[in-house]
Amino acid sequence: MMKAKIAVLVSGGGTNLQALIDAQKSGIIKSGEISLVISNKPDAYALTRAQNANIKTLVIEKKDNANFEDDIINALEENNIDLIVLAGFMCILSEKFTSRFAERILNVHPSLIPSFCGEGFYGLRVHKAALEYGVKVTGATVHFVNEIPDGGKIILQKAVEILDGDTPEVLQKRVMEQAEWKILPEATEMVAKEICKEW
Ligand code: GAR
Repeated sequence: MMKAKIAVLVSGGGTNLQALIDAQKSGIIKSGEISLVISNKPDAYALTRAQNANIKTLVIEKKDNANFEDDIINALEENNIDLIVLAGFMCILSEKFTSRFAERILNVHPSLIPSFCGEGFYGLRVHKAALEYGVKVTGATVHFVNEIPDGGKIILQKAVEILDGDTPEVLQKRVMEQAEWKILPEATEMVAKEICKEW
């Protein structure tokens, strides 16, 4: 069976990338194959995780690069990518980019959208905002990416409890373990399976 070719875009530690790699090994992801990892940061540990799993890596920096998005698009096309997964990718993509890959880009966000999302809400900031607001439940969301930051159609969500004494770091870890690392691979398989059906 032909598998959907997946590119994962990263910027940092890459624990969500690791969850995808592990899910591919364990068979949770079976309709797709991670064939490229692109980082906008040359020192992202995610690159090491990809190399350890024998996945091709590319660094495309945004800084001082007027062709950032075009460089990514070219890399995706050269590698015949069918599905793009943003896994801790800390750049907002333009409408030109997102419309070219409509319903073919997934993102994982560490809150229950529409809370604590949109421009400026990324990484630990999201958990800080949730704790400051005082919500008792947060979680993670996997959604399609369109021109509105964190505004595309929701694919999966999972709720996570907030506990007394949580710090942003403690909460981030719980949201990753209980939600992100589960729903990102699940949603990736769901969309990859749909892509295969269209062939
Ligand atoms: C994850 O919590 C991810 O949901 C979040 O950054 C972290 C990356 O960790 N993404 C965003 O905030 C995007 N708006 P990782 O590099 O270990 O996967």
